[in-house]
Amino acid sequence: MYTLGIDTSCDDTSVALLNDDGTVKLSLISSQVALHEPHGGVVPEIASRSHAEVLPLLFDKLLRDSGITLAEIGAVAVTYTPGLIGCLLVGVNFAKALAYQLGVPMYAVHHLEGHLFSPFIGDSPAYPFLGLVVSGGHTAFYRVNSPDIITVLGQTVDDAVGEVYDKIAKHMGLGYPGGPIIDRLAASGDASRFIFKKPHVKMGENYLSFSGLKTAAWQILQKEQLDEKGTQDLCASLQEVLVGVLVEKAQFFAEKENLETIAVSGGVAMNSRLRADFKAMVGRKNYRVIIADKAFCTDNAAMIAFAAILKKEETSPLELNAMASQKIQARALRRDQNALRRSESAS
Ligand code: KG4
Ligand code: ZN
Repeated sequence: MYTLGIDTSCDDTSVALLNDDGTVKLSLISSQVALHEPHGGVVPEIASRSHAEVLPLLFDKLLRDSGITLAEIGAVAVTYTPGLIGCLLVGVNFAKALAYQLGVPMYAVHHLEGHLFSPFIGDSPAYPFLGLVVSGGHTAFYRVNSPDIITVLGQTVDDAVGEVYDKIAKHMGLGYPGGPIIDRLAASGDASRFIFKKPHVKMGENYLSFSGLKTAAWQILQKEQLDEKGTQDLCASLQEVLVGVLVEKAQFFAEKENLETIAVSGGVAMNSRLRADFKAMVGRKNYRVIIADKAFCTDNAAMIAFAAILKKEETSPLELNAMASQKIQARALRRDQNALRRSESAS
C-alpha cells in the first residue's frame, strides 16, 4: 500500500506517492510561478483557484505515471496548516473526499514538520537533531527528539530569509522568486564590495532579525546606480551575510543543545552558498550535516507523506479544517484537540 501526500499550502500544487518504508514512488509538483510573476509575489486568490483546477489533474497524472490504482492507496496525508487559507482548503477538501471514498485513514500534517523531516526522506531520521527550516515563510531552529517531541529553539522576529531574498530582488527589479535569481547573480559577484553589519536582535541571541539588513540594502539602492557588476556584487554581499548568520546560529544552537546532527530544509536550502557552507561544517566538532535533496527543498508533497509515515498512529477525523497558522504542537495536545472536536460535533 502507498501513502498519498498532498500539499497546496502556497504556490505549488503537489502530490506524491510514498512506499511504506518512506521511499518515494513518485513526486509531482506543478509550479504557479508563471501566474504570480507579473504581480511580483503570490496573489492568494489566483493561487487557490489554480490549485482547484490543477490538483485533480495532477492526481490523475500521478496515478497514470506511477501505474498505481486507487485501491493501492492505503492512507492520505495533507498539509492543513500553515499557509494561505484558500489554498490549504483546496488540498484538505480533496484529501477528505478521497479518504472517505477509499475508506482509508487521513493524516493532517503541519507544513513545517514536512520540511523538518524532509532531509531524511527515504531514510530514518537521526534523533535527536537540530532542524533548520529556512523558507519563504519561515526561518526557525528546532530541537527534534522524536517525530512528536519538537521544541522551537529560536526564529526570526520579522522576515524569513526567503522573504528577504524575494523582497530585495523585487526592489532591485530582478524578478520573482528572488532567491534563485540572487543566488545565480551572486556567483559572479564580489562579496567584499558591500559590508553589511551582522543583524543584531534586542530580544536575545536565540532570535534572528533581517529588517535592518533590508533597510541597509534599500539605502545602497537609493544612493548608488548599480551596473551589472554592482548588482552581482550586492547579491554576493547580501548572500554572504544571510548565509553567514544561519551557519553561525546553527553552530550556536548545536553547541548549546549538544546536538551533532544538523538537518537543513526549506526553499532557501536550494541556495548554492548555503549548501556549500553547511557542508563545510562537517568535520568541525563531529557535526553531521544533512541537507534536503534539491527535489524536496521547495514545497512538495513527498515531505508531507513522509511526515505522516513517521507519525503513523495519529490519524485525523473527517471534520478536519484548514488553519492559516498554527504552532507545531506536541502529539498529546493534538490528540486532546481531536477528542474535543469529536465530542463537540457529537453533542
Ligand atoms: O519552501 P518554499 O517553497 O516555500 C515556503 O514554504 O515558503 O520556499 C520558497 C522560498 C522563496 O522565498 C525562494 O526565493 C526561496 O525559497 N529560494 C531560494 C533559492 N531557491 C528558492 N532562496 C535562495 N537561494 C535559492 N537558490
Ligand atoms: Zn514550505
